[in-house]
Amino acid sequence: MAVAEIQNVKDHRIHQQHDGIEKTNCSIRNKIWMAPMVRGSDLAFRNLVRQQGHIATPCFSPMIRADQVLEASHYLATIENPKDIPPNDLQHLHEDVVLVLTDILADQEPLIVQLCGCHPDVFYRACRFLLKLKNQQSQSCKIVGLDLNLGCPQDCANVCNFGAFLAEEHPDLALQCVAAMKRAIYEDQRDGCTNPPRLSCKIRLRHTTQDTIDFARQLRNHGCELLTVHCRRRQDKHDGAPDYKAGRQLVQALQDSKFPILINGDVVCLQDAERVLTQTQAHGIMIARGFLKNPLLLVNTTTTMMSSSEPFSPSFTLSMAALYLEHVEQHSPPSSLYIRKHLQWLFRAHLRPSNGKRFENFSDDDWKSKLWTFLQRPYLETVYQFRCLLGLYARNWMEEGVEMHVPASLVEHCHATFREIRHGRVPSKNEDGKVEEEGLGAGLFD
Ligand SMILES: Cc1cc2nc3c(=O)[nH]c(=O)nc-3n(C[C@H](O)[C@H](O)[C@H](O)COP(=O)(O)O)c2cc1C
Repeated sequence: MAVAEIQNVKDHRIHQQHDGIEKTNCSIRNKIWMAPMVRGSDLAFRNLVRQQGHIATPCFSPMIRADQVLEASHYLATIENPKDIPPNDLQHLHEDVVLVLTDILADQEPLIVQLCGCHPDVFYRACRFLLKLKNQQSQSCKIVGLDLNLGCPQDCANVCNFGAFLAEEHPDLALQCVAAMKRAIYEDQRDGCTNPPRLSCKIRLRHTTQDTIDFARQLRNHGCELLTVHCRRRQDKHDGAPDYKAGRQLVQALQDSKFPILINGDVVCLQDAERVLTQTQAHGIMIARGFLKNPLLLVNTTTTMMSSSEPFSPSFTLSMAALYLEHVEQHSPPSSLYIRKHLQWLFRAHLRPSNGKRFENFSDDDWKSKLWTFLQRPYLETVYQFRCLLGLYARNWMEEGVEMHVPASLVEHCHATFREIRHGRVPSKNEDGKVEEEGLGAGLFD
């Protein structure tokens, strides 16, 4: 049981979490939102942050392409029971289709589904389909919001004309997309469905603050009811300090309306959140990388209150990774890449070589670089392999004299070698009952 395991991690005072959560200022917990994240806000991770991290607001799904939602609807029409999708089919479907079928449909907690695209009609039909799923008695999914990504600055958004490129280069089309989503919600209600989801948008700052304010007003006039602003511009991507001053001016300009604004960018702990809330007077704060590095960010313990500049202890990191794997066992993400990505976010402060060393250049006894490189290997697929990898991580720290509290789910897995993990088999013991260890020089991982 996850909570019992958490209680084992005594040296980090995670066991104080229940006391801590009471002490945490509840009003701030109600103002923190976990961001939509491709290969980041999957159901297993959302559930980890909800159950152990005590988030109080609805979570966002990863961004899903609206046209792939339609593909999911076509696929569902071909099968009898959505709960019985042949695993072989899942392997061949687009990742976003798998997200709809396994992640969105299975989520029993309040969820905001984030979509991207550039065709109003596709958005309309995708939203109608998602609302149909929400309204089906047989489904457990609780969609409380539909979100439009108007902030993605990546090349794929440029190529396909969505995200920040749609918002800046074709603002009228972006507004038509918002209106189409709103129409889908309105018609769903007209057809008798109750509890309409809230329509939201996520944007970046535009060239000038006035441009941002004007665009935000237009979004509101076209049906947007909640706005997130990543306080950087498209060209900045994730670089440079966020412009909270511009965020403050936006909040001020729109404060008369019933139009909540969430501020996003570089908030990694509760102290940051309080500071940015005070500075911007926003209704809430959205956090992305802060949660990836610390899913227990809202749990008010000495450990989780640490600032981003100090890495968490190896033992605390291990316990968070073990908890994530427990949730993965309940709800597998669309691919093992999600698990590898999560473990990289959790372990990067301890394992990532600081000088950009490539694996050809590190010595065999540099176990951290070796483990970091190994973590990216595509043959890591099963929960068993990942648990062994965590066991290897724990063992290496212990050999360095670092005190580690190994969660119960990992105790069996502390003897595996790279080779065994790679081949995914249970470590065997020799005649003396000792686990055979491969020399670190015996090939890199094989
Ligand atoms: C791994 C990762 C995936 C992301 N995926 C999305 C996404 O699907 N949709 C979106 O609107 N933003 C996405 N973003 C951007 C974040 O939501 C957020 O705007 C950005 O990271 C800044 O917030 P932070 O400083 O709290 O990380 C992603 C960011 C990261 C790091």
